[in-house]
Amino acid sequence: MNPDKATKAYLNSQKKLSKKLNIEYELITSKTEKELMDIILKLNKDESVNGIFLAQPLPFDSHKIISYINPKKDIEGITPFNLGNLIYNKSYFLPCTADSIVRILNSFTKLDGKNVAVIGRSVIVGIPVSILLSNKENNATVTICHSHTKNLKDITINSDIVVVAAGVPELLKKDMVKPDSIIIDVGINVENGHIIGDVAEEVKEIAYVTEVPGGVGEITSLILFENLTKTILYK
Ligand SMILES: NC(=O)c1ccc[n+]([C@@H]2O[C@H](COP(=O)([O-])OP(=O)(O)OC[C@H]3O[C@@H](n4cnc5c(N)ncnc54)[C@H](OP(=O)(O)O)[C@@H]3O)[C@@H](O)[C@H]2O)c1
Repeated sequence: MNPDKATKAYLNSQKKLSKKLNIEYELITSKTEKELMDIILKLNKDESVNGIFLAQPLPFDSHKIISYINPKKDIEGITPFNLGNLIYNKSYFLPCTADSIVRILNSFTKLDGKNVAVIGRSVIVGIPVSILLSNKENNATVTICHSHTKNLKDITINSDIVVVAAGVPELLKKDMVKPDSIIIDVGINVENGHIIGDVAEEVKEIAYVTEVPGGVGEITSLILFENLTKTILYK
């Protein structure tokens, strides 16, 4: 399979970071679902392999493929086992991007009682970050938005924090946000050879916006490698 441009950019940054950290990194590609499943089963058994990262989106049934990954090597925290434990607030591996967003927010604001709009309901970003933000450690009140949400602007303009994970350039505009609110731009889009997020540049005039590239994605990659080190301690 040929990864899209955004995925290619992410894989490249992973490769560079693993080289810096002296970690062996191998990019394996497959052409069919069967081939991919066989590769995962082999990696599960291989004791020299600590972590498995699956580049998405996949042209196959993602749930089926992800279910094959050994949860102990699931450094992305996306297997049904680890995501199920997330609901109990007992996951050993949190989904990296969701974890990254929550760590960024906790580093400069109190989430308790805040109103958060999350745009996007994907299994790897939107839903897990909504669960994490509304758990009893963070205590935020979350509204999950998606492509069927009516009056998105009414929700975002009344939110203290907006997490945008839609993959739509300039989805969030200046007239949709509250002054001095915090905007977490998760989007990675490639336009004219440049990586841009989901938030229009003009939003920075009135709100605090994380950078793309250099914001959530960078912390996500670091968490991925943190999870890799945690595989050694997994019992
Ligand atoms: N920085 C990082 O570490 C990182 C990690 C992963 C992904 N990403 C990036 O984050 C973005 C989202 O990734 P993903 O995997 O979550 O994508 P995804 O699976 O395509 O999900 C996108 C979500 O956005 C919603 N959406 C799309 N257009 C919308 C609109 N106009 N209004 C409201 N909601 C809308 C979709 O709604 P429906 O459910 O109704 O279709 C869907 O829930 C992508 O740009 C991706 O490259 C970044």
